[in-house]
Amino acid sequence: MALKDIDLSELKTAALDAAAKVGEATRDTVEKLKRRDILTAPFMVEMIRTATNMYGHGWDERNGGNISLMLSEDEVAPYLDLSAVLRELPTGFDAPALDGKYFLVTGTGKYFKNVQYAPEVNLGLIRVTDSGRTAQLLWGYTDGGKFTSELPAHLMSHAARLTVDPENRVVMHCHPGNLLAMTYVHTLDEKAFTRTLWQMCTECIVVFPEGVNVLPWMLCGTNAIGEATAEKMRTARLTVWAQHGIYGAGRDLDETFGLIETAEKAAEIYMKIAHLPLVNTITDEDMWQLCDRFSLTPRAGYLAPREN
Ligand code: 13P
Ligand code: ZN
Repeated sequence: MALKDIDLSELKTAALDAAAKVGEATRDTVEKLKRRDILTAPFMVEMIRTATNMYGHGWDERNGGNISLMLSEDEVAPYLDLSAVLRELPTGFDAPALDGKYFLVTGTGKYFKNVQYAPEVNLGLIRVTDSGRTAQLLWGYTDGGKFTSELPAHLMSHAARLTVDPENRVVMHCHPGNLLAMTYVHTLDEKAFTRTLWQMCTECIVVFPEGVNVLPWMLCGTNAIGEATAEKMRTARLTVWAQHGIYGAGRDLDETFGLIETAEKAAEIYMKIAHLPLVNTITDEDMWQLCDRFSLTPRAGYLAPREN
């Protein structure tokens, strides 16, 4: 073909298209290079440490327990391409209040003991969309897995806690032995259960002045137990699931871990002394003094009225 036959305008367009493609590819590469390794993210490090620590405490046998940590877009953006959705997973429930929110969540059937060795298999990072009905997977569950079977209780509890504490970020579930044991031998009446825990360690009323709520045995993994848990989470950050375990909520992983740790310690003392004659206790008057000392308001009606 002679040079004069070449359509220069077509050539120019093709050259411009090619240049644009190179530009795009370069931009993508630069973006990828700028993106940081998510395994070094503070939220990831803390999540891995927490799951490991919970396993170490014996609260999460086999695949027992699950954690969800709410993240902001700003926290996630430096580590992931937020437009790259790996999979869309139906949740099976509505949670319109959580639309657009990001969560790092343990996977169903995954063992807490393994989280530290293979976080990308045992954890997933999701974005909630479609009025809560869809979870877009942005990272993790690399073996084809999915979020915990207790996602209804987690997300519904997040929504409930956010209405009473806009800074709530964590929902945590596990199976601590003494709390579980206590639900077999102690009444499940919330006031009585709370008062017993408060009486077992001086610090209990300071750590959870709102007390603990209790659900009777229910089938786990269902929307029904999710709704019931979320309702309980409106009035306390701890909800015991009788003959199963406990749910905790808090502003960060440490606070939530500490709440469960404190309640479990109190239950341990109870299980050590419940069969022995009680000689001493922490009185309601003592607990009022603690409330004064730490400027706390105990759950209304849970302590006997003050003497003066
Ligand atoms: P998942 O493995 O689905 O998280 O379930 C564990 C559990 O504790 C159920 O209550
Ligand atoms: Zn469980």
